[in-house]
Amino acid sequence: MDLDGSEQDLEVKEYSPVCVGREDDIKKSKRMTAVVHDREVVIFYHKGEYHAMDIRCYHSGGPLHLGEIEEFDGRPCIVCPWHKYKITLATGEGLYQSINPRDPSAKPEWCSKGVKQRIHTVTVDNGNIYVTLSKEPFKCDSDFYATGDFKVIQSSF
Ligand code: FES
Repeated sequence: MDLDGSEQDLEVKEYSPVCVGREDDIKKSKRMTAVVHDREVVIFYHKGEYHAMDIRCYHSGGPLHLGEIEEFDGRPCIVCPWHKYKITLATGEGLYQSINPRDPSAKPEWCSKGVKQRIHTVTVDNGNIYVTLSKEPFKCDSDFYATGDFKVIQSSF
């Protein structure tokens, strides 16, 4: 797609890194919320790594910044406080357990629904945390609550 100058400027602006806070603060609080180019995100600091994702759960728009982090199948996940969906911090995959109905003795196994929550990039520079919005062109389920009529921007948390 060809973009004219103003559209290119808009795209460059929308995907430029935005400073969301200080490293010292998130290391204490373990999470923070921010509005990055008109999109609400939550940033987690978990076991020495930063993860940013859309703040509203892909399932029904639940507030992920209020969820607990737990490990499933060795993968750290945010558990949505509304209906307990599990979302991997690193990739935004929805995890679920399944069992083979033909083998009732089998143990449930963790499976992935694929990427459901949009993950954004976190960088640290000089003690400041920056978030760069995902430019991945695929349609992610969490986009529904992050854009358009369902977008909810909250001024304070
Ligand atoms: Fe998150 Fe339903 S809104 S699990």
